[in-house]
Amino acid sequence: MSGIGIRVETVARRRIGSHSHIRGLGLDEKGKAVFKADGLVGQIEAREAAGIVVKMIKEGKMAGRGILFVGPPGTGKTALAVAIARELGEDTPFVMMSGSEIYSTERKKTEVLMEAVRKSLGVRVKEVRKVYEGVVKEVKIRRSRHPMVPYYAIPVEAKITLATKDEEVTLTVPEEVTQQVIELGIRKGDVIWIDAETGRVHRVGRTKELEGARTYDIEVKKVVEIPKGSVKKEKEIVTVLTLHDLDVYFATQRSLVSFFGLTFEREIPSEVRRDVDETIKKWLDQKKAELVPGVLFIDDAHMLDIEAFSFLTRAMESEFAPIIILATNRGFAKIRGTDIESPHGMPLDLLDRLLIIPTRPYNADEVKEIILIRAEEMEIELSKEALDKLVDLGVKRSLRYAVQLLEPARIIAEDRGSQRIELQDVEQASKLFIDVSTSVEYLRQYEQMFLK
Ligand SMILES: Nc1ncnc2c1ncn2[C@@H]1O[C@H](COP(=O)(O)OP(=O)(O)O)[C@@H](O)[C@H]1O
Ligand SMILES: [Mg+2]
Repeated sequence: MSGIGIRVETVARRRIGSHSHIRGLGLDEKGKAVFKADGLVGQIEAREAAGIVVKMIKEGKMAGRGILFVGPPGTGKTALAVAIARELGEDTPFVMMSGSEIYSTERKKTEVLMEAVRKSLGVRVKEVRKVYEGVVKEVKIRRSRHPMVPYYAIPVEAKITLATKDEEVTLTVPEEVTQQVIELGIRKGDVIWIDAETGRVHRVGRTKELEGARTYDIEVKKVVEIPKGSVKKEKEIVTVLTLHDLDVYFATQRSLVSFFGLTFEREIPSEVRRDVDETIKKWLDQKKAELVPGVLFIDDAHMLDIEAFSFLTRAMESEFAPIIILATNRGFAKIRGTDIESPHGMPLDLLDRLLIIPTRPYNADEVKEIILIRAEEMEIELSKEALDKLVDLGVKRSLRYAVQLLEPARIIAEDRGSQRIELQDVEQASKLFIDVSTSVEYLRQYEQMFLK
């Protein structure tokens, strides 16, 4: 088992940008939600329900069941799913996708889902590996224009300075590693290791021993000491490989393709998956590995169709099943691909397996706290009037709209030469960028004009 040298894909943490402030569910020892903790505000009942779910997952009592978050847009459904993942820890695979992602011209819907399911199932194995380990003293990321989407800057490489108590090394790392550094939110003061062969990045914890590193009052990451000895070392590490990592590895092993360095982006043959399952069963029997069921989160789940729903229902029943979390803002709707009306546009046999958690709209106080947290996370300074205006927009239009205005407002303020967002910047931003209901209303007026 050791030295298998699989290039491990980091557990998918895509599209987490606007939720980067979330560090957990913010519950006390008794499972009660603290009004503002771990980056979350309010939404007390839903957070406590999510806390119970986390307990059930940890105790292995979620098998064959799933979770459904229901609530209007911008009420924190995705935020809560992210918080659950944070509570489960970085070793737990967490895959986030939107229901609409199954509609691809190149791959079958069930193949897209199968891959997502396999990415959200892990096996924990022990290996001795060569790693670079130390406290991060500096991260410099070099970005360049995306080849096809010129307004999109992609990280191409990074220089990371790692230090132990005895030495300091600056590594230049390629795009894949840089991507992980960004996704994991690695910053100065984090103790990390990077696998010398696979480039996998792992955060061990945070140190309080490094000067100049920003620390939070409440730090949920494990506090650790700066390691001793050399930066490059052999270390016994516990790795969580996903079933998808193993599928790709087995598939490349048995095919000529591996000689040309191509990977399977399209489809993994089903015999390969069967072999992987057999191998894992053997490892589990021999106690060489442990199964780690992760979370598959599907946002806008009403976008799935009947075929996808029955696939998921079957997946929940199978021997290796991830915890499936769905979110929707639809009430009664047609199940896609049928003429059947059903609650949340989902088949009843699936609904029967789901624990449903509602999220409710926020009041002004809660909106204010959430905007303040986002502003702090983005290192944005707001005047009192600017904040009040954003709160007003958050309540009247939507929280997401208010949160989304922060970045344009910052740019408008900077263009005026100000480091602080004032009322006028927010007003300007909200004039230039409208929210969804305003844009719909705007087009409706024009439609009426054209129809006359
Ligand atoms: N209770 C909360 N505490 C802190 N931030 C929140 C909370 N609810 C939502 N947010 C943030 O507000 C924004 C919109 O919420 P989101 O989770 O996307 O809503 P939904 O998925 O229900 O449409 C996101 O940036 C999210 O992280
Ligand atoms: Mg959402």
